[in-house]
Amino acid sequence: MSSTHIVEAVADLLRHADHVAVLTGAGISAESGIPTFRDALSGLWAQFDPDEVATPSAFERRPELVWDWYAERRLRILEAAPNPGHHALVEIERRVPRFTLVTQNIDGLHAAAGSRAVIELHGNIRRVKCWREGTVFEVWQEGDVRPPPCPGCGAWLRPDVVWFGELLPEEGLRTAWDAAESCDLFLSIGTSNLVEPAASLPWMAHDAGAAVVVINPSDEGQRRGRGIHFLPGRAGDVLPALVAKAWHDEPSAFPPFRRERGRGAGPPSSN
Ligand code: APR
Repeated sequence: MSSTHIVEAVADLLRHADHVAVLTGAGISAESGIPTFRDALSGLWAQFDPDEVATPSAFERRPELVWDWYAERRLRILEAAPNPGHHALVEIERRVPRFTLVTQNIDGLHAAAGSRAVIELHGNIRRVKCWREGTVFEVWQEGDVRPPPCPGCGAWLRPDVVWFGELLPEEGLRTAWDAAESCDLFLSIGTSNLVEPAASLPWMAHDAGAAVVVINPSDEGQRRGRGIHFLPGRAGDVLPALVAKAWHDEPSAFPPFRRERGRGAGPPSSN
């Protein structure tokens, strides 16, 4: 099936969906100038060892280094703006009956674009929390002492992000699982699908009968099969094109889509 045909097929799924669930990863923010983690040369993990900057034991060993590493990332993120991919998701949210947006990104760009009720599975770099008591702060004092002390108990402050080996926010994860199991269309955007438990969400949705759409320049690590539609490309190009096709063009050739529980759903897979 040609990519134009795939876009039409997916646009039709969007137009008829009752509940759209979305998982985003670092790829959706790449066009806002924020590096991904695993892209060959430009990825953060190509330059830094995650065991040295993104684990609780790394913070215990070298709190100043870890604090500074996140402070540097925070500065770059605060200078970044949402891109057409983020904005297209806001439009999809406005147009479908039910919408759930789950992100692995800590940059806060979905909310900055206007998305509501974003589930931030890996936290948000725009907040900090107390290393000892977990109290979260949106505003904190930066000074010569790094990490700065918690205003409450004086312990170190740390970024309010989920480090490797740490638990994800329970309620957010539960909502993400429920959405994956009840949606009729799941969009997996800009993620390598390598980090659990987020990585399983698209396939939980597929196993529960939803149509799955993968938007990524690369299909590396992505499952293939009936009901899984791969749209090769950048999120900032593909998502606006989908929205335009779904709601700004004349009605499509496909019959209305209705989900049938348990069986690969939607028109035949597009790959
Ligand atoms: N549009 C869409 N996808 C893109 C774009 C783009 N413009 N540019 C790159 N990509 C894709 C890459 O092909 C890759 O598959 O985005 C994906 C980014 O993958 P990762 O760097 O592994 O990021 P992510 O999947 O979000 O990582 C998951 O791992 O390091 C941890 O906690 C961190 O949340 C992160 C998690």
